[in-house]
Amino acid sequence: MKKLITPYCEDFGKSNVVIKHFPDAESYVLIPEIETLKNEKVTVYHRLYPEPDKRIFELLLILSKLKQETKHIELFAPYLPYGRQDKENKPGEAVSADVLCELLKSFGITKLITYDCHFLPKPGNFARVGLEIENRSAGPQLFAYAKKYFAENNADEEFVVISPDEGSSYFIENAKGDQAGQGYSLKKVRSESKASGEETGIHADIHTMEGEIDVEGKNVCILDDIISTGGTIVRALEHLKSRGAKKIIVGATHGVFAGHRIAEKILNNSCSELFITNAILVKDASFDTMVEILELPKI
Ligand code: R5P
Repeated sequence: MKKLITPYCEDFGKSNVVIKHFPDAESYVLIPEIETLKNEKVTVYHRLYPEPDKRIFELLLILSKLKQETKHIELFAPYLPYGRQDKENKPGEAVSADVLCELLKSFGITKLITYDCHFLPKPGNFARVGLEIENRSAGPQLFAYAKKYFAENNADEEFVVISPDEGSSYFIENAKGDQAGQGYSLKKVRSESKASGEETGIHADIHTMEGEIDVEGKNVCILDDIISTGGTIVRALEHLKSRGAKKIIVGATHGVFAGHRIAEKILNNSCSELFITNAILVKDASFDTMVEILELPKI
């Protein structure tokens, strides 16, 4: 299997794709070794976030050349953007998850390898609009980090693992059967958000967190697939703290961090440790001290 690594994935190997930007910000792509890829099996390593629209278009430019050479193209994209709009909630709403999968398939991707894809219920092999998807999970890695944290930080070793909503409930499976942890799910109830007096309904604010879990005097680890605005995690922290949780730590696969000082907001709300993976590369230097970043295995 040959590797085509974009500059956004250099932590997975030396980049062999040139991506530049014209003065007007349009993208330019060159695959210098294109002739060596004829009829080869190729895995493209590319991060699709931040700047998802731009990164998706750059990927299409890469694929436009690659698909002329070979029919065996896999994509490794550790975070799949546009995964949260995965159904038509209102008539006329575009289903971006389907559009992106269709686009990847039509540009020659035979298989997508990703982590904790939002619209998939668990790790494993799936298909969406005909695109084959291998969904890996960082859950075991996040759980192992939590176990080590509680063992090393003078906390009792036992802790409760909690997913803040049912969509990410498979994360608690890591705790089941392990003597260090028990797992439970909260239920997130959303309400429409208001922005500048207008009803937006887009990724609406979280209204309430429901679920009575006995966390009184216990250590807790919250695990989720994505931290975006941080609203879900902050509500979960408030909910668990008000029910007497002792030490709470938070882990997530994808640190989207959409907004300012999201990590601080979480850490200032009774969170003792915040850890994410490098599925998304966070370029904020202050993160070095605030957030623990776990490296995904090299594929
Ligand atoms: C939602 O269903 C996901 O599992 C995450 O909980 C959600 O995407 C996090 O978003 P935010 O940080 O904006 O609350």
